[in-house]
Amino acid sequence: MPVAGEFCAAEWFEFIRMARSGFDVQARIQMNIIHFVRLTITSAGYLGFALLGAEPGASPTSAPATAGLRKKALEVLAPIPQQMPGAEKDTPGQIALGKRLFFEKRLSKNETQSCNTCHVVDQQRAGVDNEPTSIGAFGKRGGRNSPTVLNAGFHVAQFWDGRAENLEAQAKGPILNPIEMAMPNPSLVIERLSSDKAYLRQFARAFPGETTPLNYDNLARAIAAFERTLVTHDRFDDFLNGQDKSLSAAEQRGLQDFMTVGCTTCHNGPLIGGNGFKKFGIFESYLPDTDKGRVAVTKEEADELVFKVPSLRNIAVTGPYFHDGRENSLESAIRRMGKIQLSVALSTDQVNDIAAYLKSLTGHGLKGKPLAAK
Ligand code: HEC
Ligand code: HEC
Repeated sequence: MPVAGEFCAAEWFEFIRMARSGFDVQARIQMNIIHFVRLTITSAGYLGFALLGAEPGASPTSAPATAGLRKKALEVLAPIPQQMPGAEKDTPGQIALGKRLFFEKRLSKNETQSCNTCHVVDQQRAGVDNEPTSIGAFGKRGGRNSPTVLNAGFHVAQFWDGRAENLEAQAKGPILNPIEMAMPNPSLVIERLSSDKAYLRQFARAFPGETTPLNYDNLARAIAAFERTLVTHDRFDDFLNGQDKSLSAAEQRGLQDFMTVGCTTCHNGPLIGGNGFKKFGIFESYLPDTDKGRVAVTKEEADELVFKVPSLRNIAVTGPYFHDGRENSLESAIRRMGKIQLSVALSTDQVNDIAAYLKSLTGHGLKGKPLAAK
């Protein structure tokens, strides 16, 4: 296995170099894991090719190779489930109320913003504002990029740093955030909604048998119920479900590369991320690293510069990229991830193929918005 051998040697030198320059223990462990996984994937790949009687490098669209690729992909990735956890308890009344609240501008102090302002889910948009960082009710920009609400209920936790444990906890945040919707307190929110007879009726119907159904907890529950309907399915799901032709040759090569170079050590599972936290900037720093990430939540030193591994579903239509939205192009984001997370210099062909693969993750029927030039 000459190619795998070269991989190992190059990585080993890199490992020694990093070890000498005294990089931190966590990164070293990460490197070992990545090294191991990459070697396993590469070896498994060769074994797969050997068993199928195909030469490595044979056209990825030929049927047996496609079947092998799907099999390998299903070891680390998966189709998006039909339903989000908890959705089985949501009633049509709660979902309809949640939808109305998601589009409700009276939830912001000056009645200019709804959730949908920063997470646009109508007009075939992908649940984001496509801004580097979001602009709040009073025109001030926050410090972070708005992640998509599509499929968010599948995530291990909400926000870039995971500070809200679920959609219900998350929904209470932006309404009271002074830079976002800027309401001074929950009672004012409830007072505003209570002046609307339709809301009184809808809350009563959605939460039957409660003495005061129109309350802040139920508002968050209804919004979360609506968000749990925001599940997308895309061509990659179709491919995993057995449709060979759903991915072009370039997209299949990109999927192969995505696994082989080690992106799937972090971006894995049905959401291709969204299921854990990892340091951002393992081999090289992401600069300026002013946002320290998850350490603010856990107060653990080990969580410095640690962020939620974002889901890559719908990634082609949810730019700009990274927690501060500093990267406009998907291709540059991919190249940068290779460099700083894996210490791999991806070739232009690899970057283009991986980008092609990531573009297959756009939900059926969704369109993005072109990003403003930088
Ligand atoms: C002013 C823009 C803005 C408004 C208005 C807004 N959000 Fe957000 N939203 C953001 C930003 C920015 C983040 C990321 C913040 C962070 O991680 O610290 C976020 C994060 C989220 C997340 C987490 C997604 C993930 O992948 O972690 C969800 C879910 C969400 N918002 C839903 C809502 C809901 C529901 C509302 C209305 C009640 C709302 N947002 C209003 C900008 C906004
Ligand atoms: C060691 C874990 C790890 C590895 C390996 C990794 N990533 Fe990431 N990825 C992350 C984290 C963490 C972030 C969030 C960065 C931030 O805070 O902005 C991220 C962000 C991204 C983003 C931007 C997402 C967004 O919503 O803005 C893309 C695109 C991406 N990764 C692609 C890749 C590709 C392609 C590879 C392989 C070349 C890869 N990643 C390898 C952990 C990893």
